[in-house]
Amino acid sequence: MDLPKGLAGVVISETKISSTKDAKLTYSGYPIQELKDASFEEVVYLLWHQETPTVEQVQDLRKLLVSEMKLPDETIRLIKEVAKEPQHPMSILRTTVSLLGTTHNEDGLDQPPVILAKMLTAIAAIIRLRDNQKLMEVHEDWGVVENFMYLFTGQRPSPEYVKMFSTVMVLHADHEFNASTFTARVVASTQADYYSCLTAAVCALKGPLHGGANEQVFKMLAEIRETGIKPIDYIEKQIAAGKKIMGFGHRIYKHGDPRAKILRGIAEKMAQTTNNSVYFDLEEQIANYMFEKTKLYPNVDYYTAVIYHCLGLDSSTFTTMFAACRTTGWMAHIIEQQTDGTLIRPSSEYVGEMHHYTGPIKAQA
Ligand code: ACO
Repeated sequence: MDLPKGLAGVVISETKISSTKDAKLTYSGYPIQELKDASFEEVVYLLWHQETPTVEQVQDLRKLLVSEMKLPDETIRLIKEVAKEPQHPMSILRTTVSLLGTTHNEDGLDQPPVILAKMLTAIAAIIRLRDNQKLMEVHEDWGVVENFMYLFTGQRPSPEYVKMFSTVMVLHADHEFNASTFTARVVASTQADYYSCLTAAVCALKGPLHGGANEQVFKMLAEIRETGIKPIDYIEKQIAAGKKIMGFGHRIYKHGDPRAKILRGIAEKMAQTTNNSVYFDLEEQIANYMFEKTKLYPNVDYYTAVIYHCLGLDSSTFTTMFAACRTTGWMAHIIEQQTDGTLIRPSSEYVGEMHHYTGPIKAQA
């Protein structure tokens, strides 16, 4: 039987949330290039309601999200328990999301804005607690992105940085039926609660072929810098050893990831203003060589490695940032799937042999 490997190209459901048709990313029909300067709150509203919000609706959503960003003491106590090295931050996040589900309503009363707000603060708390840094307080009169950045960096970001990071969050907010979103939808199709769906999504995002790639990209850059090896020699060696170069290639975008094009500009700007151009320059050399050698383009995870480094984050926490940005899309898809009400339960083609069972095999004397 000729099966599509990895479900490539298989349409498994209709959606009104986002599309990558013709390799063009749109949120509820709007091209990502037109949304990159929209506020995070506007995009959250758009993805959750599939309609453009009014100015008042954006303000109300901002207020609600910010007011819900404070975590209950019990949740902080639990995060402190799990946020201990040497656990990987994504493992801590996996446990934390599950814990959030036990400290909040399991009966469906928790609304998506409450959950998104708690996710952002929990991720910032994980980042700070594992470095033994004190937790910061939410400022009710700031926007969501400004608060979030403050919570994980400990410093009030400049308006220019808020704008750039807001674009990063918007570009990551959703991406059709990617692996983690599909995972969340499978769990949602059983009518499980939001936190169960989100925990599963975090597990899927963790892998290096999906969200975990951003961490690996920075590890590669750091290794090249530390060892002094020429980037081209490094790539040659990896490819000769049959290894994939993280941050390149994409299941959908065979001629370039539209998000990476925008993120490249942000990475360059942040690298210049934080004295990190060495990493951006390495990325440029690698990207040029990769195109020449393999015709592969950078994906969304490639330039965020430099962006997150410029924000002072340790590479092990990069994928938790991705989770913070993607929670918006996960929630939109969970709601759409639960509303649809259909159980996702595909079939498989058994290719093993058939037997008659006669009990355990006796060991040969
Ligand atoms: N480095 C080197 N070669 C690659 C890479 C890469 N990053 N990506 C693809 N290729 C090669 C494959 O080895 C394969 O070669 P072959 O035909 O000679 O066997 C060919 O290109 C096709 O690659 P597939 O892995 O079959 O393509 P697929 O669509 O299944 O994979 C994927 C997409 C998983 C993203 C792949 O490109 C990859 O592993 N990239 C590196 C990991 C990464 O950056 N992941 C983040 C993706 S974005 C996201 O999920 C948020």
